[in-house]
Amino acid sequence: MKTAVRRLRGGNRLRLRRFAPGDLVAVRSLWKAGGLDLGPSDTRREIVRSLARDPDLFIVAVEEGRVIGAVLGRFDGRRGWVNRLAVDPRARSRGVGSTLMREVERRLRAKGCRKVNLHVARDNRAVCAFYAELGYRRADLIFMEKWL
Ligand SMILES: CC(C)(COP(=O)(O)OP(=O)(O)OC[C@H]1O[C@@H](n2cnc3c(N)ncnc32)[C@H](O)[C@@H]1OP(=O)(O)O)[C@@H](O)C(=O)NCCC(=O)NCCS
Repeated sequence: MKTAVRRLRGGNRLRLRRFAPGDLVAVRSLWKAGGLDLGPSDTRREIVRSLARDPDLFIVAVEEGRVIGAVLGRFDGRRGWVNRLAVDPRARSRGVGSTLMREVERRLRAKGCRKVNLHVARDNRAVCAFYAELGYRRADLIFMEKWL
């Protein structure tokens, strides 16, 4: 299992490793606490199924044995995608979110990915400041979707 260790502001060690099915409960509660809607793609069955592709891009951040952050990356062969970034509210503002983003970008780059996309819900637009700090720019696009 690929694991990276990073130092947080304040010196604590943060382990970044790929998601394992045993992390599901912790990760779902991070998503809920972060205000991210849980949908039909977030059942245990769907998440485990999605791990068949790029399992190393679904990264959890672990501090002192506790999962405190997660990000779900994807590479479709052309673009990288960042989904579902969330950090435990008690662990925010210590660099965990940006450390997860840099790690998923590093792993995407290693796969040959040159551009990363992500979506921000309209009611969460304040978070754009966080992404802008990491170099993301807003694109004027209309997002459309369809469930199959
Ligand atoms: C966004 C998130 C992952 C950042 O995690 P984090 O560990 O606090 O990130 P970092 O410590 O690396 O960076 C924090 C900095 O990002 C910026 N930032 C983060 N969230 C922000 C927001 N909602 N509005 C404005 N600035 C924000 C601030 O500059 C903040 O620094 P400060 O706390 O000193 O003001 C975390 O706030 C979170 O889980 N939010 C809820 C879920 C979410 O919105 N996910 C993104 C979906 S697109």
